[in-house]
Amino acid sequence: MKVIISGGNGQLGQDCLSVLEKKHQVYSFSSRELDITNSEKVKTIFEEILPEVVINCAAYTAVDLCETEKEKCWAVNAEGPEKLARGCKHIKAKLIHISTDYVFDGSKPITQVYNENDQVGPVSQYGQSKLAGEENIRKINADHLIIRTAWLYGISGKNFLKTMLRLAAADSARTLKVVNDQFGSLTWTHSLARQISHLLTSEITGTIHATAEGHSTWYEAATTFLTMMDIPYSIEPCTTADYPTPARRPTNSILENQLLKHEKLNIMAHWRDDLQEFVNRYKKDLLAEL
Ligand SMILES: NC(=O)c1ccc[n+]([C@@H]2O[C@H](COP(=O)([O-])OP(=O)(O)OC[C@H]3O[C@@H](n4cnc5c(N)ncnc54)[C@H](OP(=O)(O)O)[C@@H]3O)[C@@H](O)[C@H]2O)c1
Repeated sequence: MKVIISGGNGQLGQDCLSVLEKKHQVYSFSSRELDITNSEKVKTIFEEILPEVVINCAAYTAVDLCETEKEKCWAVNAEGPEKLARGCKHIKAKLIHISTDYVFDGSKPITQVYNENDQVGPVSQYGQSKLAGEENIRKINADHLIIRTAWLYGISGKNFLKTMLRLAAADSARTLKVVNDQFGSLTWTHSLARQISHLLTSEITGTIHATAEGHSTWYEAATTFLTMMDIPYSIEPCTTADYPTPARRPTNSILENQLLKHEKLNIMAHWRDDLQEFVNRYKKDLLAEL
């Protein structure tokens, strides 16, 4: 199968390439090579390659910056997916688009989960722009699969776990405060890439959730990771109110892979098992990066 990946240099983009290239003919593009906000470029590349599937891993993911860089945020997260959907419709390709848990407002009582048909209500520019991206794809009515995921980490690029590691390794005596009242499902990009690969040959369409099983807070995620890494740390739990950020985050964004399970297509593992596997595989590389 011929597959195009946009946003190929991001965390998920890189893992999608390494997983999919074993089985498929993959064309991965960085933001410079394929700017998803440029319709002409999208059209030219799609017509040249004629992929069966386009996987959009491109997004403006700096959640706090989205509050001030609204134009860029909306161009990439809302208009970009629409341009890709038009391009896909033109060449009769399927668009697999990655969306986010931040389309929900997070007001469900803690440990209740969000299913695919729960009401959306984003509380940040990032969440609103990603929701608009979803709606734009549905409006174009190309063959599509929208995958909402959450709290991504991987070996490539920047993420919360790498930040925690860098801060703890720099000064283990310094006490860090980490939010302990936001709940979500920490998800390894490699596992999500495997899940996407599993879905490539399926008939599934529409909007689905794909996160690791189980849930944690950011505090639990950070302390579990540093313990697995054998890095000494001093971390205190804090509340969202103690750590104000420009963008609001949902308190509860635990997603349930209800449709994947219903279709017997779910291959996502528990977040702790994935995190242990990530550490087993990359501990040396992560320490070398410091
Ligand atoms: N990270 C998370 O915790 C999280 C949680 C839920 C959902 N998601 C979603 O999952 C997907 C993958 O996230 P990620 O963590 O892999 O993101 P990432 O590491 O920030 O990668 C995003 C990539 O998109 C590229 N990009 C930005 N603007 C572009 C444009 N106009 N055209 C083409 N490419 C562009 C970026 O390139 P440059 O660096 O060159 O700008 C970057 O390589 C995104 O849709 C994101 O919204 C992420």
